[in-house]
Amino acid sequence: MANPHTAFLTVSIIFTVIASGPKQCVSTKTFTLVNYCDETIWPGITHGENFGSGGFTLKPGQSAVYPASDGWNGRIWARTGCNFDKKGSGCKCKTGDCGSSINCTGPGSPPATIAEFTLGALDYYDVSLVDGFNLPIAVQAFNGTGNCSSAGCDGDLRQSCPSQLAMKDGDKVIACQSACSVFNTDEYCCRGMHADPITCLPSNYAKGFKQVCPAAYSFAFDDPTSIITCTGASFAVIFCASR
Ligand SMILES: *[C@@H]1O[C@H](CO)[C@@H](O)[C@H](O)[C@H]1NC(C)=O
Ligand SMILES: *[C@@H]1O[C@H](CO)[C@@H](O)[C@H](O)[C@H]1NC(C)=O
Ligand SMILES: *[C@@H]1O[C@H](CO)[C@@H](O)[C@H](O)[C@H]1NC(C)=O
Repeated sequence: MANPHTAFLTVSIIFTVIASGPKQCVSTKTFTLVNYCDETIWPGITHGENFGSGGFTLKPGQSAVYPASDGWNGRIWARTGCNFDKKGSGCKCKTGDCGSSINCTGPGSPPATIAEFTLGALDYYDVSLVDGFNLPIAVQAFNGTGNCSSAGCDGDLRQSCPSQLAMKDGDKVIACQSACSVFNTDEYCCRGMHADPITCLPSNYAKGFKQVCPAAYSFAFDDPTSIITCTGASFAVIFCASR
C-alpha cells in the first residue's frame, strides 16, 4: 500500500493555500474534493444548492474547492466510467450514476461508497458502505473543534470483494455490492423482524467490509460511533487516498 501520509501532506498544503487567501464568511465551510485515483471520476453531490451544480469532472490528481452553506446536508460520492458529451449530457455511468447529466438529478445508484454530511452548529459526517463500495473515500476535517477524526478509509474493497457481491466490467471488479442488494432478504437489509439494532446484526459480509474500512458505516445499524461530530471545520473528501 502507498503511503497515506503523502495524501495527508498534499491536502495540508492545499489547506495552507486556502488559509492564506482572502478571509471568508465564518458560516461558509469549504469542501475540497481530491482525486488520487488513477482514473477520471465524476463526483456526484446531492441537494447541491451552491455546490458544484450537483456534479463535475475530476481528473487524476485534480482537486476542486467548493463552499457549502451552514445548513447543507447531503451526500458526496464518485461516479466512474461516465461518458458525457461537451454539454454534460450522456448515458449511464458504470457506477454511481445519478441521471443522464453531469449535474446529478438523483441519488447515486448503488453500489457506491457515500460520504454523508449534516452541517449545522455541530457537523455530523460519516462514510457509508451500506449501499456498497465503488472507490475508497476518506473524509478529513480541518481546523475544527471536537472529535473531528477522519471517516472512511483508503482500503480498496474491490480487491477483497466476495465473488457473489462483485460487480464486474469484463474481468475487472468495478464495485462491491452490499449483501442486501444481492440477496434482498430482511436479514441482510435490516427489514421486517430485523428492523432494529438488536435483531439486525452485522453479516459476515458487513464484517468483511468493516475489516477493510473500520472507520466507515458498514450496515444499517452499525455502531453509531462511525458517525463523527465536529464544529467549525472545513472538509476534504479524498478519493483513493492511498495512491
Ligand atoms: C483555523 O483556526 C484558526 C484559529 O481559530 C483561525 O485563525 C484560522 O483562520 C482557521 N483557518 C481556516 C482555514 O479555517
Ligand atoms: C449543469 O449545471 C451548470 C451550472 O448550473 C450549467 O451551466 C450546465 O448547463 C448544466 N449542464 C447540464 C447538462 O444540465
Ligand atoms: C472520535 O470518535 C471516534 C469514533 O467514535 C473514536 O474512535 C475516536 O477515538 C474519537 N477521537 C477522539 C479524539 O475523541
